[in-house]
Amino acid sequence: MSPIIRAVAADDVEDIAHLETICFPDPWSKASISRILETPSSAICVAEKEPQGILGYAITTSVSGEGELERIGVAPACRRTGVGRSLLRYALGQLVQAGVKVVWLEVRRSNESALRLYEREGFELVRVRKGYYPPREDALIMRKLLVPEPAG
Ligand SMILES: CC(C)(COP(=O)(O)OP(=O)(O)OC[C@H]1O[C@@H](n2cnc3c(N)ncnc32)[C@H](O)[C@@H]1OP(=O)(O)O)[C@@H](O)C(=O)NCCC(=O)NCCS
Repeated sequence: MSPIIRAVAADDVEDIAHLETICFPDPWSKASISRILETPSSAICVAEKEPQGILGYAITTSVSGEGELERIGVAPACRRTGVGRSLLRYALGQLVQAGVKVVWLEVRRSNESALRLYEREGFELVRVRKGYYPPREDALIMRKLLVPEPAG
């Protein structure tokens, strides 16, 4: 059975913080995740399946009609099974409901799995920040329009 995607609950914080440590070289702490949970402009969704529990999560922010995908992570054993795509679609759906018109994200040039996912889900490369990540890896700035741009 596919995992369910749902909004975060307070007792998911520990699992998300644990996934952070296995998905990212610069993991966000439990305290940071808890703070995000209390920030009205931020949203977290999780993928959950029994009996494993939380398999992945996505964190977004939105301000004045612009959104940003801050984090998306899936447990290594569950990758390439559609969890990341489901999380991303759910998160974007939530942003649409919040009135967001455009979503931005930033990804390392070497992060092929994330890049492929974003391209497949309609993000386009807008700009390159040369040498942005230490020691000197490029950051790709991508965006997706959630509502069509007005003509002209
Ligand atoms: C990026 C990440 C979230 C993708 O999650 P996932 O659950 O494996 O992604 P999905 O299975 O939903 O894949 C959706 C599509 O993305 C692309 N994709 C995902 N992983 C890929 C890989 N390793 N190689 C090539 N394409 C890949 C494919 O097009 C895939 O569709 P397909 O399987 O039908 O071909 C996951 O690899 C991850 O947690 N990485 C570590 C954290 C990270 O780097 N986050 C992004 C920071 S910017």
